[in-house]
Amino acid sequence: MTAYRSEFRRSIEQPEAFWAEQARRLPWFTPPQTVLRHDDQGHARWYEDGELNLCHAALDHHVEQGRGDQPAVHWDSPVTGGKRTLSFREMRDEVARFAGALRGLGVEKGDRVIIYMPMVPEALVAMYACARLGAVHSVVFGGFAPHELAMRIEDAEPRVVVAASCGIEVDRVLPYKPIVDEAIAQSAYRPEACVVLQRAQHRAELGAIDHDWADLVARAAPAECVPVKATDPLYVLYTSGTTGKPKGVVRDTGGYGVALHYSMEVVYDMAPGEVFFSASDVGWVVGHSYIVYAPLLRGCTTVVYEGKPVRTPDAGAFWRLIAEYRVKSFFTAPTAFRAIKKEDPEGLRLAEHDISCLKALFLAGERLDPPTFHWLEDLLTVPVVDHWWQTETGWPIAANLQGLEPMPTKAGSATVPVPGFDVQVLNREGQPAPALEQGSVVIKQPLPPGCLAGIWRDPQRFHSAYMAAFPGYYLTGDGGYFDEDGYLFIMGRTDDVINVAGHRLSTGEMEEVVGAHPAVAECAVIGIHDALKGQVPVGLVIPKDGFDGDELALENELIARVRERIGPIACFKQVLVVDRLPKTRSGKILRKLLRNIADGQAFGIPSTIDDPASLEDVHEAMKNREVGDAHQARRV
Ligand code: COA
Ligand code: AMP
Repeated sequence: MTAYRSEFRRSIEQPEAFWAEQARRLPWFTPPQTVLRHDDQGHARWYEDGELNLCHAALDHHVEQGRGDQPAVHWDSPVTGGKRTLSFREMRDEVARFAGALRGLGVEKGDRVIIYMPMVPEALVAMYACARLGAVHSVVFGGFAPHELAMRIEDAEPRVVVAASCGIEVDRVLPYKPIVDEAIAQSAYRPEACVVLQRAQHRAELGAIDHDWADLVARAAPAECVPVKATDPLYVLYTSGTTGKPKGVVRDTGGYGVALHYSMEVVYDMAPGEVFFSASDVGWVVGHSYIVYAPLLRGCTTVVYEGKPVRTPDAGAFWRLIAEYRVKSFFTAPTAFRAIKKEDPEGLRLAEHDISCLKALFLAGERLDPPTFHWLEDLLTVPVVDHWWQTETGWPIAANLQGLEPMPTKAGSATVPVPGFDVQVLNREGQPAPALEQGSVVIKQPLPPGCLAGIWRDPQRFHSAYMAAFPGYYLTGDGGYFDEDGYLFIMGRTDDVINVAGHRLSTGEMEEVVGAHPAVAECAVIGIHDALKGQVPVGLVIPKDGFDGDELALENELIARVRERIGPIACFKQVLVVDRLPKTRSGKILRKLLRNIADGQAFGIPSTIDDPASLEDVHEAMKNREVGDAHQARRV
């Protein structure tokens, strides 16, 4: 681990020198003199007197350097039959024109723009156009319902919303415009305009504030890049926290650009001109960082895939894309490979494609479970890299660094902390946990460049959610441990966040929706193990006294309610009506115990329980209704 150790040590012991060096890799308008400053709260502010523009660094700069004809984006859409390649020059020109169109609608530096689009090149164009103007984009994933979009509109107060007329899920066309209209109607804040990309599969009806993307662009003059401060926000990305209100993670510009560029080299081993494919969605952080910004900043080509790992048309889709676009590094979520493995357990589809171009496979979004890891290792001849990160950090916290010093892998481990991240495991008392002992995984301040700069308009929440638990440390919300070799094992969230098919969701938010039903007295939503999606939510509900309706009808109503309020992506499909819930004497629902039972584990009756029989009741109910593996759970 020599190269790794020395690089890591330098990043922690001399962060300013280390990150000053990395910053020189970006084309700044004004190079930063001050590398790191701590604000009044002790949070790191990187490169605050530097000025740049990330659209310039990712597009114009490469055109100026002679990369104009190189493909910047390969779009591949089996759901529409569409394919399109845009060179760096074409991307720059489209982005400049769309930026001009946005400016024509009044969008200026600092204004927010909400983007609600599927995986089409125009989603990237819209994001870069905002970056070009110094406007702040906030992309909302298409699987979210109007209410979720409305909450984000109210919080971000966008001047303009940019949407597509529809998304396509395998073979279903999903009109997006009614979702946007409904969200705007629900929101107390009203954007001034909505730009709609009309897709051939479904054209949207346009209303008073709506503009057709194509018409607008046809009339627009190209806009130049607006210099912004390194600490100016590039985007706000909402993510699930422990309450019903999502957290608007604010990303700065300069630190993010530097961190992404560095990661492309040391984590992903990517050189300019090579092809990177991240099969995520622009609505998630993986999409922001490794579909949109990082590949182009590094002068690489990015693959934008509008399809699924299976069913579009089959389990060989990823292999086909890797072969067709000569992908060097591929990144997706473990759940995608569990879906592939289910349909093609022998991996026979792989033989149909020449993937000799592939040098490494990266997985994140949830823990890479050992069975999936071994299946991939047996199938492929390239390193299978589990790496750990979160919306807040924006880039990997722990990885097997393919561009610095590849290390032997260990199943279930994300390998070692990435330079810049002083990862530690603390016990309940805030003391360092010894090797192999599980605790709270934290990062010692300062966080490296690229990590969240705050929560949009909520400094108090930033502090209370991440900084208050262990002063001087950032709380990741994950539990885990280091082994004796310094390998990090991330074992799961320690809060109410669950991970469903690589998507982060809040059980607290689902509880708020379920609990608001007039017939519900009390409820708990827990995340239970699922062989395909990693986790799925299950609701346990106590009806109000006197409820004499149909229990099945109530369950179905609650399922429909969560789908309507949060969206199909919540995968909330199981509700169980129970008479009581196991609680401590102080009234706290024993959620962890409920989860263990649903997952089929042996369980004991804790001494703090108020009504021991309630646990047996819930266990019986889960067994009868075939919730998870509850039938295997037994009382000890
Ligand atoms: N717009 C609208 N609806 C969407 C959507 C979108 N962009 N994405 C998903 N949905 C809907 C789906 O149609 C589905 O609806 P349904 O309940 O009516 O069937 C629901 O949300 C759940 O979707 P999903 O979790 O994707 O389930 P699936 O069964 O369709 O597919 C997988 C399962 C594993 C193939 C899929 O989840 C997958 O590809 N996961 C990888 C995730 C990933 O890349 N995450 C990024 C983090 S790195
Ligand atoms: P998100 O913010 O949506 O990227 O989700 C972040 C959360 O996903 C983390 O806090 C972890 O709980 C989980 N996660 C992501 N990648 C991994 C990984 N490689 N191993 C374990 N958990 C992961």
